[in-house]
Amino acid sequence: MNTTYASIKGLGFYVPETIVTNQDLTQHMDTSDAWIQERTGIKQRRYFTYGKDTNASMATAASRMALDRSQVDTKEVDLIVYATITPDYYFPGSAFLMQRELGLEGVGVIDIRNQCSGFVYALSIADQFIKTGMYKTILVVGSEIQSTFLNKSNEGRGVAVIFGDGAGAAVVQATTDPEHRILSTHLHADGRYAEELYVRDPGSSREGRWLTEETLSGGNYNVTMNGNAVFKHAVVRFAEVIQESLAANAYKPEDLALLVPHQANIRISEYVRQQMNLPEEKVFNNIQKYGNTTAASIPIALTEAYEEGRIKPGDLVCLAAFGSGFTWASALIKW
Ligand code: COA
Repeated sequence: MNTTYASIKGLGFYVPETIVTNQDLTQHMDTSDAWIQERTGIKQRRYFTYGKDTNASMATAASRMALDRSQVDTKEVDLIVYATITPDYYFPGSAFLMQRELGLEGVGVIDIRNQCSGFVYALSIADQFIKTGMYKTILVVGSEIQSTFLNKSNEGRGVAVIFGDGAGAAVVQATTDPEHRILSTHLHADGRYAEELYVRDPGSSREGRWLTEETLSGGNYNVTMNGNAVFKHAVVRFAEVIQESLAANAYKPEDLALLVPHQANIRISEYVRQQMNLPEEKVFNNIQKYGNTTAASIPIALTEAYEEGRIKPGDLVCLAAFGSGFTWASALIKW
């Protein structure tokens, strides 16, 4: 009997048309192009257009591209796994809205709230459901509208300059070919650091009602980040989880054709690259163009890497993420 594996059949992404440069941000806060580029590598990011883009519409556009490129009919999709921390509604999740836009009524949907690791968690879920034989074709999506969550004043400048909007998607399908498949996925989290990078409000555990004048004036609905703590943990966990995926499949760093890290910060990626002793061309970066798009960053980067011819059949590709929670995860793929 043939063993069933999961493979990525096709990729797609969507970024909103409005480009916001570092220079544009100087109109709202005391910052500079030089500071942002030196600390993060970011030159510009995209912000959604109100009335045109929604979290779910961006995810739908990315999914349609991925389905087209896979030559998979939308009706073949039998599960949607959707990662976002910036859903259209507080509930239900944006997966429901995308399912509706795609005309997939009745198909199961799962919303994932694992921040920057969300896409890798979603991919891992798809991999498991396919390997058990429960589903054959799964849409895996990461989509974020973060521009409305940021405090774009001096007070919030350490966070606001980092994040951007966008969406990416992958069609994951069953295969019996052991040479072209997701080899393994590795998921981790450490809730002791939940408040190092978080949005406090609106939360349910408040005295009285969850949304009050006090909550609104408190400003805790903006992203709060301890940048130094995030940086220190990220560099350790990225390297660890990449090594874990390689060791689980008896590979070494030099066997990697491409590492596609979550686009958190160019200095983090560079630090990890050096720790792993990888040449520059083996680590993909596009944070310069899009900033950190949280759950969307890996599928956007993976799609661009593929479009640029940086991934070929048979290549060993590692996806690795770290983010709020803290959470970190990896996926090793034989393309
Ligand atoms: N423009 C100009 N100056 C800024 C600024 C901005 N956008 N943001 C902060 N500063 C200032 C600070 O106020 C501080 O000034 P001070 O020395 O007068 O107090 C100075 O720059 C240094 O601040 P600090 O926070 O120590 O800078 P840093 O070198 O740690 O860089 C980050 C800040 C956020 C870029 C960095 O910590 C980082 O990249 N962390 C990881 C974040 C990340 O990847 N998050 C996503 C995780 S998924």
